[in-house]
Amino acid sequence: MSSICLVCHVDSLASEAQILAHSLGLDFHRGDAIEPDANVRAHRRLQKKLLKGRTAVLLLDHEGLSLMAEPEGFPLIVRADFCDSTTQYRHNNGSNTREIIAKAVGLKSHSKPSVLDCTAGMGADAYVLAALGCELTLLERNPIVHALLKDAFARANKSENPKIIETIKRMRLVPPVQASLFMKQMAYGDRTSVVYLDPMFPPREKSARVKKGMQVFHSLVGKDLDSDELLPLAWDRASDRVVVKRPRYAQPMNNQKPSYTLEGQRNRYDIYLK
Ligand SMILES: C[S@@+](CC[C@H](N)C(=O)[O-])C[C@H]1O[C@@H](n2cnc3c(N)ncnc32)[C@H](O)[C@@H]1O
Repeated sequence: MSSICLVCHVDSLASEAQILAHSLGLDFHRGDAIEPDANVRAHRRLQKKLLKGRTAVLLLDHEGLSLMAEPEGFPLIVRADFCDSTTQYRHNNGSNTREIIAKAVGLKSHSKPSVLDCTAGMGADAYVLAALGCELTLLERNPIVHALLKDAFARANKSENPKIIETIKRMRLVPPVQASLFMKQMAYGDRTSVVYLDPMFPPREKSARVKKGMQVFHSLVGKDLDSDELLPLAWDRASDRVVVKRPRYAQPMNNQKPSYTLEGQRNRYDIYLK
């Protein structure tokens, strides 16, 4: 994704936005001010204007940091959020997904494994595991995705929901880093119970059926071409298991047969037991 810039139309956030743009190497623009109670149409008009001639816009406003894009004319906003209704639903209601990921990492009522999430992305999987009691270390190498994730932490920290506060206390976000480098620099004593890998996987169909949000995310981070080198490193650093999340149709990572597999609706978890 080539032309991304950072836009902030809120006076009180402008200097913070400028610093962030500088650290991400993005151009900074002051957008037109928009009234806090402006309707959907006004927001839509602003979005169209901001996106003119650009592939995406990182927007900082009172709601935090978000990435706006319009793949194939379809307006879209990508935001990492631990407090939104989807995440909270996933957390509060016994969902199938929650049970499978918990089983995949070997979570039991008496044992909550520590997990190194090497491919944190928007932090959704990490949040589910932390909500279930695991201690998580999150690694993300893409600076824009990392900034969106960091912003989700900042907003969650201000939440009035004690469960959210308790959960994010179990999640440690490391500054942007390549997971292979991080693992190479881990001391032997720093081993974690579980290493969790969920690299981007090229979608099977060209575009139409890939969800639009995923399209934007895919074009932002590109293909994770180096994902194969993660498995041997992860194997060395995990004391209990390595868990790899894959689309159901994909080959196992490195074509290496897992100890066993758990199937979800769209994904499966390949588990490599030590
Ligand atoms: C499919 S997404 C992960 C989604 C995540 N499990 C979630 O629940 O939101 C993959 C993410 O891993 C990051 N990533 C891929 N390879 C990485 C590596 N070697 N080191 C650090 N981050 C990596 C990508 O930038 C991308 O944001």
